Amino acid sequence: MSQLIGVPRETFAGEKRVATVPEVVEKLIKLGFRVAVQSGAGDAANCADDTYRAAGAEIVADAATLWAKSDIVFKVRAPAADEVGLMREGQTLISFIWPAQNPELMQQLAARKVTVLAIDSLPRMLSRAQKMDALTSMASITGYRAVVEAANQFGRFFNGQITAAGKIPPAKVFIAGAGVAGLAAIGTAVGLGAIVRANDTRSEVADQVVSLGGEFVKVDYAEEGSGGGGYAKVMSEGFQKAQREMYAKQAREVDIIITTALIPGKPAPRLITAEMVQSMKPGSVIVDLAAEQGGNCELTEPGKVAVKHGVTIVGYTDLPSRLAKQSSTLYATNLFRLSEELCKTKDGVINVDMNDDAIRGLTVIKEGGITWPPPPLKLPAPPPAAAKPAAAAPVAKKGHGHGGAGAPASGTSMAVMFAVAAALFWFIGANAPAAFLNHFTVFVLACFVGYMVVWNVTPALHTPLMSVTNAISSIIAIGALVQVAPPLAAAAGADRPEAWILGLAVVGIALTSINMFGGFAVTQRMLQMFRK
Ligand code: NAI
Repeated sequence: MSQLIGVPRETFAGEKRVATVPEVVEKLIKLGFRVAVQSGAGDAANCADDTYRAAGAEIVADAATLWAKSDIVFKVRAPAADEVGLMREGQTLISFIWPAQNPELMQQLAARKVTVLAIDSLPRMLSRAQKMDALTSMASITGYRAVVEAANQFGRFFNGQITAAGKIPPAKVFIAGAGVAGLAAIGTAVGLGAIVRANDTRSEVADQVVSLGGEFVKVDYAEEGSGGGGYAKVMSEGFQKAQREMYAKQAREVDIIITTALIPGKPAPRLITAEMVQSMKPGSVIVDLAAEQGGNCELTEPGKVAVKHGVTIVGYTDLPSRLAKQSSTLYATNLFRLSEELCKTKDGVINVDMNDDAIRGLTVIKEGGITWPPPPLKLPAPPPAAAKPAAAAPVAKKGHGHGGAGAPASGTSMAVMFAVAAALFWFIGANAPAAFLNHFTVFVLACFVGYMVVWNVTPALHTPLMSVTNAISSIIAIGALVQVAPPLAAAAGADRPEAWILGLAVVGIALTSINMFGGFAVTQRMLQMFRK
């Protein structure tokens, strides 16, 4: 019997999102599930009951009935106490939970003997998880909406204009923190015609800022801000001081500041002081996306718009909900992708497979047992940041102790390896027949060249490298060409081939052509993504 996915109306005050939308209901039904939606659940996101009904969902009048009949519940916000009370043993809940911040809720849910998948606990660095990453989809909406809110409060155009009534300079926007939300804000503000600058403690985002049309403003202090997993770390006192100086200068120059800086598990870094706000031009706007985590600006009032020293400070904490249709659609798609992972058999029955890294990370409670936090993920080590200096002076670095895992092999073991390899080659050279040696030499050279080429390519470019290598492998087309072209065949000393060989050669040429042109086309498209 297929399972029933229930979608209740969100009960959190002012929450307009809904956990699924009619277009996604159809897809869930194709996966074998039945879907029930509480009446009015999608009203605030422009999804009327009738549209759900038309998509194949059953409309249930009240929350109690919906929770009682659902095998799986899709929600946006973590359940409130009365919703937890409606849960029954064996049910599965998928929603935002924030287990670290809500230990009491975790205990209450565990006591109901349910299974809970916290969408916020998804291991985001798994490339397979990206399609389910609701944090990213919500953050990009937040970044977009932050610019819209700023534009709403700002008394001027974003783009520069020359009109009969005079010349209007473009607005200057400064974005603090260029993660998912920050990058979305940069793209949106650039699109509106503003001059956009951005800063982040992680130097790796500088290129991303520039590729979106922004200018990356550096802090004049040598310290890397990456704290692992794509996230930031708390910076040293010295860095913070240098950063404050730079931010103070930006505050005097720009019209709009959008702050997005967060550090996982820590209060939001205080980047904009009261003095900086005071130094801004009257009519300027600050949008503080970190308001819920304590705010990046000292004067932010979470959930409110406050005017301080003539500067409007927007501290809304519900920006995705302010774009309810869009965020509900993206969230619903994230949950649908998760459902596909949970129901690979497409029979409408989920399997919470704890051996699957993505599912393991998401599952914070399994049948009443708290399984959060998950064991650390075994991810491939990131490429060394400064490959060149490390390669140039491996011995000099030895004493600095970065941990032994990725340390270069010592001189002695290298020498032993070379000696063994040399002895092996001598043995083969002395004993193998000449014909074999010819092929073997080519093979060894090919291995060497291949190794050197692949080793020197940035890991991010390995996929295009594979596709171009695949395209190049179509060189085997030459064999088929020799067969079909009589002069070539004659030159190669071959007799006129038989009809079936000719046929095979033609098919071979057709297939390798697809491989060759397709491979180059795919590579070209992938490389395009890396170009600015
Ligand atoms: P976040 O919301 O935790 O932080 C926002 C930004 O604030 C980050 O870029 C951070 O470096 C910056 N920040 C923190 N402290 C700062 C300070 N004192 N001054 C200036 N900036 C500061 O991060 P978010 O947006 O959730 O993700 C961050 C990164 O994680 C992304 O840029 C991406 O590289 C990575 N990521 C990777 C994914 C994947 O590989 N599938 C998926 C999602 C994110």
